[in-house]
Amino acid sequence: MHVFVNGIQVAYTDEGAGRTLLLVHGFPLNRRVWAPQVEAFAPVCRVIAPDLRGLGESEATAGPTAMRRYAEDLHGLMLSLDAGPVILAGHSMGGYVALAFARAFPQLLRGLVLVGTKAGADTPAAAAARRASAEQVRAEGCEAVVESMAGKMLSAGDTDPVMAAVVRSILAEARPEGVMAALLGMAERPDAGAWLGEIRVPTLVVAGADDTLMAPAESEALARGIPGAWLELIPQAGHLVAYERADAFNEILSNWMVNLPEEQTK
Ligand code: MLT
Repeated sequence: MHVFVNGIQVAYTDEGAGRTLLLVHGFPLNRRVWAPQVEAFAPVCRVIAPDLRGLGESEATAGPTAMRRYAEDLHGLMLSLDAGPVILAGHSMGGYVALAFARAFPQLLRGLVLVGTKAGADTPAAAAARRASAEQVRAEGCEAVVESMAGKMLSAGDTDPVMAAVVRSILAEARPEGVMAALLGMAERPDAGAWLGEIRVPTLVVAGADDTLMAPAESEALARGIPGAWLELIPQAGHLVAYERADAFNEILSNWMVNLPEEQTK
C-alpha cells in the first residue's frame, strides 16, 4: 500500500486492528525485516510498518534526510491512517528515528521499543566516514556499502543460510539515492542523550548479545538514560535481533506489551 505524505509516496504495511504497533526498520533495510513481527502481532493488534523515505518502495528525495524528517514522515503517515497514539519500535537507524519522534511528538506515543540502537551522535570521525561512504555511493552505486552491511546483520555463529539469503535479498533492494540520504542524515543527527530523561512512556530496550555493529553496551546506556526503561539482551543474536531470534524477540515484546498500564493501551 502507498500513501502520499510530506510530498512523497510512502509504502507501508497495515494489518490487524486495535492498539497500534508502528515498526521502523534500520539502514539500509526496508519493512520486509519486520515480517516475523507483522505475522505474530497482527492477530492481536494493529501493526503498521512503513518503508522510510528513499528505502524499500518509498520515494526518495535528494540531499540528507534528517532523523527528524523521517519522524515527520511517520507522523504524516499516522495522520493519514488515523493511527495513534502508538507503541513505536525502531531498529538501529529506526531507533534514531524513534528517538527523534519521541522528542517531536511525545503525545503520540504509548510506548517505545528501541532495538539494537543508541542515543549518541556520530563522532567527527564516524560522520566523516559516513560522508565518504555517501560519496562512494554517488560515484559507484550502493553495492559496496550494502555488501559491507550484509556481513554484520546476523550473529557469526551457526546462521541459517536461508535466513542469510533473505537478509541479503532485502539489502539488495536498497537504492543509491535513499542510501546516500540516510548516510548524510545519520552523520548530522543530534545527540539524543540530551532528551532521554524527558521520555515519559514505558520503554523497552532490546539488543542482540552478539551484535558487532552496535555494541550491546550502547543499549545498556540507553536503558540507563530513560526513566524506568526495561532492558533485554537476547543471546546468540546479532544486529538484526528481531529477525534472527524472532521467537525470543516476539515473546519479550508480547510480555512487555501485556504489562503496559491499561491507560497506555487502546
Ligand atoms: C543501522 O543498522 O540502521 C545502522 O547501521 C545504524 C548506524 O549505522 O548507525
